[in-house]
Amino acid sequence: RSECSMASESRFDCGRDRVLSQDECEERGCCYSPLPGSSGPPWCFYPSLYPGYKMSPITPTKRGQTASLTRVTPSYLPKDIFNLSLEVTEETAGCLHITDPSTQRYEVPLLDGIRHTKASSQNVLYTTEYQSDPFGFIVSRKSSGTIIMNTTVAPLLFADQYLQLSTSLASSFVSGLGEHYTPLILDLNWTSLSLWNRDMAPHADANLYGSHPFYIVQEDDSLAHGVFLLNSNAIEVMLQPTPALTWVSIGGILDLYIFLGPDPQSVIQQYLQIIGYPMMPPYWSLGFHLCRWGYTTTNATRMVLFFHSQDVQWNDLDYADKRRVFTFDRVRFGDLPEMVQEFHEGGMKYILILDPGISSTSPFGTYPPFEDGLKQDVFIKNATGQVLIGKVWPGPTAFPDFTNPETRQWWEDCIRDFYSEVPVDGLWIDMNEPSSFIQGSVDGCPDSELERPPYTPIVGGQLNTGTICMSAQQKLSTHYNLHNLYGLTEADATHSALQKIRRKRPFVLSRSSFPGIGRFSGVWTGDVRSNWEQLRLSIPAVLQFSLFGVPLVGADICGFGGNTTEELCVRWMQLGAFYPFMRNHNDKPNAPQEPFVFGQAAQAAMRSVLNLRYSLLPYLYTLFHHAHTSAATVATPLFTEFPADANCRIIDQQFLWGSSLLISPVLDEGSVEVKAYLPAGTWYRSLQRHAVFDRFPVKEPALTTTVSRGNAFFLTVALSASGQARGVLFWDDGDSLDTFEMENYSYLIFTAGEVGKGRDVLTVTSLALPMSEMFTVQWAL
Ligand code: GLC
Repeated sequence: RSECSMASESRFDCGRDRVLSQDECEERGCCYSPLPGSSGPPWCFYPSLYPGYKMSPITPTKRGQTASLTRVTPSYLPKDIFNLSLEVTEETAGCLHITDPSTQRYEVPLLDGIRHTKASSQNVLYTTEYQSDPFGFIVSRKSSGTIIMNTTVAPLLFADQYLQLSTSLASSFVSGLGEHYTPLILDLNWTSLSLWNRDMAPHADANLYGSHPFYIVQEDDSLAHGVFLLNSNAIEVMLQPTPALTWVSIGGILDLYIFLGPDPQSVIQQYLQIIGYPMMPPYWSLGFHLCRWGYTTTNATRMVLFFHSQDVQWNDLDYADKRRVFTFDRVRFGDLPEMVQEFHEGGMKYILILDPGISSTSPFGTYPPFEDGLKQDVFIKNATGQVLIGKVWPGPTAFPDFTNPETRQWWEDCIRDFYSEVPVDGLWIDMNEPSSFIQGSVDGCPDSELERPPYTPIVGGQLNTGTICMSAQQKLSTHYNLHNLYGLTEADATHSALQKIRRKRPFVLSRSSFPGIGRFSGVWTGDVRSNWEQLRLSIPAVLQFSLFGVPLVGADICGFGGNTTEELCVRWMQLGAFYPFMRNHNDKPNAPQEPFVFGQAAQAAMRSVLNLRYSLLPYLYTLFHHAHTSAATVATPLFTEFPADANCRIIDQQFLWGSSLLISPVLDEGSVEVKAYLPAGTWYRSLQRHAVFDRFPVKEPALTTTVSRGNAFFLTVALSASGQARGVLFWDDGDSLDTFEMENYSYLIFTAGEVGKGRDVLTVTSLALPMSEMFTVQWAL
């Protein structure tokens, strides 16, 4: 058949939902043509014209355009939705919304108030053409004609539990679609990425803790665009070398946002206009954090402090009485409140882990979080309306439903009560995929289409593997729909509770994530192993979160799983000093890996890079300010700063802090050199020989940010070839709420070597209201 003769890389899978025999394939009206090997192009694929939806003429509406899409013949899926409505709006992003007009299908609830940012229509950088039968659309960039999306390459499918949309891609340089253990540029050679939040140590081909249905494509002429599918159901994205990709989601609607940039930074900014700009972290949280599972007493925790290299000390589950959150072990951690006070007196901060699972088996009258939670009806229910019980660290547990406003209040009350005894400075919200050690619940799950949908788009296992039942009921919908939002909703509730209780800038660190989490929280990349490959791949992992609007991100330095070595740990500290969030954390059974356990030379190397980080904190903090106020990235891939330099397209072993600091770490065992790529421009090597950089304000380093904040500022001015430099400093008290919004900050602009003024002139301009805190700038040219 001629309609089956396309090149094998342009085949689109007609049997994604299950493996088909030739007869079954042909019954679907698809082409069957086996190829050698089992991976690679599909054997059963759509012919060039395959019946699908037919589009009515498109008509204008108040906000854009609308059309209906109608299918006459059923597809091969159960429960087709025969009539769909298409709504197109042109906002900052192009937005296509395809849903069932006859019933209210589930839609992601969280973006109200943010999503309708509007742009004037002169700014529209693209044109859209439609194919009416079968329905498809083509989005092209006006300026270059580049095809951004073309969905006519394969049919649209829209059944109750199976939504599928394919598109061609403008180039093979695609990033995003996290959270996965991948390089920055995704492999388009017939790979598949699942988005389903899961407690799973990072390894290849697995869906990990977070879900981010957003990708960015570097076009062939230095421009870039991004696409966001606002959908929280389980998703699979198939990538193929055409280049093309196929979205499959098993619920919700197709709510697609297209960001035309035209440069990579604008793409990210436009995406963040939809999902929200990141929060401003407290200054102290940019210091060095030290943690491990296995500081089993307050004294063991204090011992770590004795060596004093960290800003923030953490405790893992060890502190909790029988691993129950909101309690502390009165024997091993009996003087926890005093210990926290000592830390505070030493200018340090203290953070504790807080898991969402609430122990359900404590004797009556002994554990208020569970009993109050029952009374206030805050827990997720099973399909028949009883509190669902899973199993986590403390044993049987109930799971708070953070989509319920009552739960947010109860959570705040629990945190407030605990805080009145143990005044933590931030909270570490872990296990919030949510993770459960028993499939579904202690009573299993009812057999239903939610637990076993017609297609399960995740590798190895069912949706409820390692988590709770899909039929579990939350205030807003079933867990089937809300699963990927669990960590986001918990981060929101925790951020808001801390803000109310402490009246300071909240610090929250979350493992699970979804678009928008950067508004409330930082993220760490979970249970990485102590080996060189994991060290290397931590860079793309961190950079991906920058693309997702979560600038406060880092991997567990020296590795979490398994024993580290001195060399690996030194190299990991040297890289980790440039993670925006810098924490050394270790699993319980492993050999210690705090800086002080290593030899003198290793310690000196670690100290030196810590000093470098601490001296650069004003620059880093200023980058966070720009992230918070204008959605700029902090740690960023080279392609976002040098989009016209084709050599930068795939680099993910080097990265930048903002536009000025290029980090090129040693990532290989035994290696004492790096091969680094320097994009065009003038680059200076840092004095410590750990990095090359350009122009910015620095501080004299100290052991804590509390002390270093008081030290003098120094300004490094690195002139360009034409003898000029420019830099900025955002400075405030580092911890108060909304200093930018309340105009309680200083913003200084430094310019050196202004044209006509000669090389040795440095001008400092203050752009904001002066703060009460005074400081002087010292410089030397
Ligand atoms: C999870 C976390 C890890 C933590 C451990 C114990 O594995 O990812 O960071 O140490 O639980 O709480």
